[in-house]
Parts: sequence; structure tokens; C-alpha cells
Amino acid sequence: MKRDGLLKSIWQDMAPAYQPLNKRQPNKVYDVLIAGAGITGLTTALLLQTQGKKCILAEAHSIGFGTTGGTTAHLNTILDTTYPEIESAFGKDEAKLVADSAKEAIKLIKEIAAANNIDCDFEYKTGYLFAQNEKEEKQLKEIIEAGLRAGIEMEWTEGIPSPIPFTKACAIQQQAQFNIAVYLMGLAKAFEKAGGVILQDCLVDLPDKNNHLVSTSLGNIKAKDTVFATHTPPSVNILHFRCAPYRSYAAAITLNDENYPDGLVYDMEEPYHYFRTYTFNNKSYLIAGGFDHKTGHQENSTATVRQLEAYLKKYYDVKSIDFVWSSQYYIPTDGLPYIGKLPGWDRVYTGTGFNGNGMIFGTLSGKIISDMILKKENRYEGLYSPSRIKPLAGFVSFVEENVDVAKQFISKRFSYEQIDELVKLSNDEAKLVEYKGKRMALYKDDNGQLHALDPVCPHAGCIVVWNNAEKTWDCPCHGARYAIDGSLLNGPSIKGLSKVAIYES
Ligand SMILES: Cc1cc2nc3c(=O)[nH]c(=O)nc-3n(C[C@H](O)[C@H](O)[C@H](O)COP(=O)(O)OP(=O)(O)OC[C@H]3O[C@@H](n4cnc5c(N)ncnc54)[C@H](O)[C@@H]3O)c2cc1C
Ligand code: FES
Repeated sequence: MKRDGLLKSIWQDMAPAYQPLNKRQPNKVYDVLIAGAGITGLTTALLLQTQGKKCILAEAHSIGFGTTGGTTAHLNTILDTTYPEIESAFGKDEAKLVADSAKEAIKLIKEIAAANNIDCDFEYKTGYLFAQNEKEEKQLKEIIEAGLRAGIEMEWTEGIPSPIPFTKACAIQQQAQFNIAVYLMGLAKAFEKAGGVILQDCLVDLPDKNNHLVSTSLGNIKAKDTVFATHTPPSVNILHFRCAPYRSYAAAITLNDENYPDGLVYDMEEPYHYFRTYTFNNKSYLIAGGFDHKTGHQENSTATVRQLEAYLKKYYDVKSIDFVWSSQYYIPTDGLPYIGKLPGWDRVYTGTGFNGNGMIFGTLSGKIISDMILKKENRYEGLYSPSRIKPLAGFVSFVEENVDVAKQFISKRFSYEQIDELVKLSNDEAKLVEYKGKRMALYKDDNGQLHALDPVCPHAGCIVVWNNAEKTWDCPCHGARYAIDGSLLNGPSIKGLSKVAIYES
């Protein structure tokens, strides 16, 4: 499994090999074109194909290339947007609906795995949320009260499966975990077995509004409905201004002792740290994550990787750090994801703004969007509709503000350095520079070779920022990401960065 950066996730190492088999039939009109082979795209594709729709799934890179390949694969009914926050922004009934939908998503994953013989180590686990000071204790009390009102089974507990000191904690029943790599490849296999077609290395653009001719990097595809399961939809859409891209860091480590948690564990810091155990071939790993920041707002991502490692060594007896990686997610302005019709379009659908709960909301997107296309009623359709109008004040309105100020932030903080000699750059160093009147994103690789790119993001004109951990150029505005050679790694852009010719005098 390949991914959108240099660092390797634990799932990449243990993903079963899978090569799509079915071939596209030229000139065929498909019922549904699904763009993106992460959990959202493959769940949607499988649910539609097994209910009689003729589907084609087109992935810009390869299966699991996006955030699904870089997740930590906790399955939660307690979400990043807390139940007190959901109640205050949407109401008590809606909070209950959100809880129901999260439970349904976990059940659906279990059912899909069982129905398709996907041996993905799905296991129900208890979740633990712990406070470390009085302020957090107060928040925890509110979370438990609102959680119980929403129908989540949770209660105060005396102990947690973690050596990290805490003052108060709660246990949440019926959380779960699984191996996302095995599950994802299992979805792909089941989809193809049901007659679906998967195209890899196929970048999909928005369809023609009239006849649903979709232009892709492998030629046009005609489909009656199109689903952008691309984590963020392509082109410029209102949803890009309602979601802010963040990066989160994760590690899989081996311990000298047996302190692997039996359960899913979360602290309440901002951003929070999260823990689980994963056992593969009789070997256990502690998978931990945290240290999130807005995409393109961290000058030294490698330092963040080191911070995560140091944090783990502080609390655990670490034998080896086997994998460290980072990946991207999107925080929605009002706290809930956007799932359904892409605003401004008729037969085009999307799911985005999943926060750190995309295993749940990606699966739920598959269910909601497939029900919409199949003209079946779905009781969550209105709740998660991308066209909903909700009061933004109070909740994460700062996110929206941050999206708006991203341009200013970057122009102040990452200004161009005037250089008159390219040799001034060290190996493995990147900078935004102005050289001979040309502004460029310049990287000198380990062999001393220079890679010069136009730093203007083709999506909406922001300036990219170097991510030294993943060795990518990341756009701080809506999260598009580019490789050293300018090629596109992440939407919403559908073009890469242009190369700039440089001449030493
Ligand atoms: C470090 C980290 C840990 C996380 N842990 C958890 C967790 O424990 N539990 C949880 O529920 N959630 C978690 N999340 C969130 C979750 O992993 C994501 O929300 C989820 O994987 C998103 O899935 P997706 O299929 O929508 O998107 P992706 O997995 O990103 O898939 C989108 C795919 O679309 C392709 N694509 C993009 N543009 C195009 C185009 N124009 N044409 C064709 N293809 C295109 C991409 O290449 C990609 O493969 C975590 C996120 C991070 C960053
Ligand atoms: S992703 Fe929108 S401007 Fe770069």
C-alpha cells in the first residue's frame, strides 16, 4: 500500500497485496462513478454494487493512498465533537441521532466484515477518557451527562489501562477497533467480486453539469451519479470554507513490558493523545497519536514527530519505535461532517469534515449516500446534509476564522527569502525563495539536486509550505499537498504545482 508522504504507517507494512482485476468496459454508461478508494469510497461502492447499481470506482493513486492508510482505526461513539458541543449547536434530539448513527456505523463495519469474510480483527473494546486537572474533570462530567442523554453507555471508573497519571476517568462501552488495511482490501475484493470496477491512477474532475460526462486522467467516464469520496471534494466549493485541514501524528511502538492497553484510551488535552493496542502475528504494538496542528502551520514537522516520540518515552518503557507517520483530517466549522449532495450540484455527492472520526463517518457516508442514490429513506440525511444552515458561533468558529486568515498567516510567517546563489541551500533543505526575480518553492534533495516549483497552489492561490517530516509541499488554506516534483498528492486541487526552470549563472 502506498501513501501520500514519506513516513510509513503500520498499516502499509501489513496491508495484503491487492491488484484490481475487473476491466472497464469502453463506452459503458455506469450508474455510479465513485472517486476515491479510502474507507468512504469503497464502502459506498460496495453498498451500491451489491444493491444492483453498476459502479466504477476511480482512485487518483492506489487503494488506501489517502488518510485511510494513515489512520489509527479506533471506532468510537464518543466523537471529537463532544456531546455537550453537539447538544448546544444542534439540540438534544440531534445529539441522540448522532450517537445512534455512530453506533450504526460500528455495527455496519462488523456486518460488512462478517458478510464478506474480511478477517480484519474487529473487536469491541471499552473506551477510557481521563481528566488530569479540575477544569478537565468538569468537562468530563458534562461529557458523561450529555453522553448518557444521547444514549451512550458510559460511567465513572476508578482505573484506566494506561500508566499516565489521571484524576478522574470514565469508561465507555461498545467502542471498537480493527485492522483498516485488511478491511479496506477486503472491501475492494468484495466490490470487484460483486462486479464493480476499480481504476487506479485515475484522477477524477467534476462532471459536466448536463450529461454527467466525467473527465478523468484516463479519459471520460459516463455515469448517472458521481460520488466524491475524496476526503475533500475537488475544485472550489463552499465546503472548503466550512472545513479546516489538520495534520495528526501517530506511532506504533514495541514496549519492554506488557503495558499495552486493553481498550481505547484518550486524554483531554487540546489536542488530545490517543492510544490502542494492535496485535499482528502474535506481536503487539502500542499505537498512539496526537500533536495535531493545522496543515501548513508548523514550520518543523519533524520536531513534532520527535515530540510524539518523547511523550511516549516519558510514560512508557519503549523498546523500539517501529513506525511513525502523519496524516490529514478536516474539522467542520459546526462540528458535524457534511454528507450528501455536493452544494450546487444535483447528482453529485460527497462526504467530508469527518474530524478524527472518519472510520465512523466514512462508513456512514457510504450508507447515507448509497441510500440517497437508491432513493431509500435515511434518518440521518438531514442531520449531516452539506446544505444545512447552522449557527456557527459558539462551537469551532475559530476554525472558520483560521481558514480565512490562513493566507495572511502564511504571508507573514513564511515570506520569501531573497537568494542570489542556489548553492546556499543545504542538502535536504527547502525554502520559499525569490531568485532572479522568480518566486519558487525550492528543495535540494539528499543528492544535491534542486527541485524548483511555482509555490502558488492551483486550487485557490495560497502559497504552499514545506512539510519536512513527509517531504511534501502542503497548502495551509484547504489542505492540497504536493510531492517534491510538484505532482498532486491530495485534493482539493486537481492539478500539481508547475515546475520552474532554474539556471545557475
Ligand atoms: C493520524 C490520524 C488518525 C486517525 N485516526 C482515526 C481513528 O482512530 N478513527 C477514526 O474514525 N478516524 C480516524 N481518523 C480519520 C480517518 O482516518 C479519516 O477521516 C478517513 O480515513 C477518511 O477516509 P476517506 O475515505 O474519506 O478519505 P481518504 O482515505 O483520504 O481517501 C480519499 C481517496 O481519494 C483519492 N482522491 C483524492 N482526490 C481524488 C480525485 N480527484 N480523483 C480520484 N481520487 C481522488 C485519494 O488519493 C484517496 O485515496 C484519523 C485521521 C488521522 C489523520
Ligand atoms: S488548497 Fe485551496 S488554495 Fe491551496
